[in-house]
Amino acid sequence: MTLHTIILGSETDFAGWRDAARALALANVPPEHITWTVKGRAAQLFEPTSLPPADPDRTFTVPAAFVDLASIAILNRNPERFARLYRLLWRLRDTPRLIEDATDPDVAILQKFAREVRRDEHKMHAFVRFRELGRGKEARFVAWFEPEHHIVELAAPFFARRFADMPWSILTPERCVHWDGRDTVFTEGAAKSDSPSSDPLEDIWRSYYANIFNPARLKIKAMQAEMPKKYWRNLPEASLIDPLIANAARTTQAMIEREAPVPRPSRQRKEEPIMASPAHIKSESLAALRAEAADCRACHLWKDATQTVFGEGPRHAPIMLVGEQPGDKEDLAGKPFVGPAGQVLNRALDEAGIDRDKVYVTNAVKHFKFVPRGKIRLHQKPNTPEIKACRPWYERELAAVKPALVVAMGATAAQSVFGKITPIGKNRGHLIDLDEAKALVTVHPSYLLRLPDADAKEREYANFVKDLKLAASFLHKLKAA
Ligand code: URA
Repeated sequence: MTLHTIILGSETDFAGWRDAARALALANVPPEHITWTVKGRAAQLFEPTSLPPADPDRTFTVPAAFVDLASIAILNRNPERFARLYRLLWRLRDTPRLIEDATDPDVAILQKFAREVRRDEHKMHAFVRFRELGRGKEARFVAWFEPEHHIVELAAPFFARRFADMPWSILTPERCVHWDGRDTVFTEGAAKSDSPSSDPLEDIWRSYYANIFNPARLKIKAMQAEMPKKYWRNLPEASLIDPLIANAARTTQAMIEREAPVPRPSRQRKEEPIMASPAHIKSESLAALRAEAADCRACHLWKDATQTVFGEGPRHAPIMLVGEQPGDKEDLAGKPFVGPAGQVLNRALDEAGIDRDKVYVTNAVKHFKFVPRGKIRLHQKPNTPEIKACRPWYERELAAVKPALVVAMGATAAQSVFGKITPIGKNRGHLIDLDEAKALVTVHPSYLLRLPDADAKEREYANFVKDLKLAASFLHKLKAA
């Protein structure tokens, strides 16, 4: 009887394990005759043994599901994993369907290993926080993370996709990964002191976190399961958690006092895209609509956005202003038109004699659509399916607010308001009949911001104010009637 000691090249040496396991299984070496270890591990008691010679005429196959499971389970830190994998491989030679039996002890433990690895990968995606080193062209973004398992290679492609345009490094105690805009490079582990500990971006993270923290939904146990305390020390926002929890009861009470009671929306309503016209939609409370829209999954845009940005304004505002979609600032704040376009809008409303507090402001699409470019999120125009998916919210807002006039700002808003592509140039400057209100089409305030020359900016801004004055005079006439 020969005892074998297999020394793998590294903790994640799947190819080395697979080659050794294939040779050992073909040579009929039973699991209990093998010791598996990794190069460089302390206290190596045995010299490596050479693998049994390969017999080119003998071969065997294993189910693809085993290869998938093994390539992930091997990344678990548990030192038993190599032996467990071999034992399962050994048994699969005669009983390939064993891989489908989740109650088998070898299958069960390896599936648990794989689940732990995936969970750790997910945590790394969620909790890596980059800090900026250097400025301008020299800037580099560095993060410190302490994974539980050997997941740096597994998790790296996600960061390369997500932060493709910025050079970054993620340092961990055992392995580091670096991205230069083209390739990922892996190096030995680092010390925490090699990573910067704070930068101005952390204030942004903190205000973002404070913004999205909803005290009424606070479930401390669930939150700690999602964001275990061990990750807190590397999260800039973690310093806010205790004070926010401490304040939660008071803030919730204040929210309850501010808002009318919200009827619980039925599950069915949430999942069905609602395409009825406003005339058929009963008028609902805006608070209920906002609460329901917070969980909207009618298109994919919710996945990357921070939150649904619902409309805002008095319940029976005479004017409803409709924009395109929230921008970066609106996405973080959860309110429409609070960024640069909002400032242009405020100024123009003021000049037209319309009080913003008296109008209802909303967007055709209620999630921010963007592509990440380094730390910047670049606005992307919503497409027709996204506009359609979001239209029921506009219709229900319309039915709740019942404005006398809807102002569609820009092409996306016009498409939503009229239910079809409606060119701005041809339709602006006069009131158009809708079923239950009038409509006015004008440009979007961001269009004014994008105009390159000062003359055009001034001229177009004046036209925008002129359109808003039309809205103001319509209102005056309405009041006088
Ligand atoms: N642009 C929009 O269309 N809406 C906003 O809320 C902000 C910018």
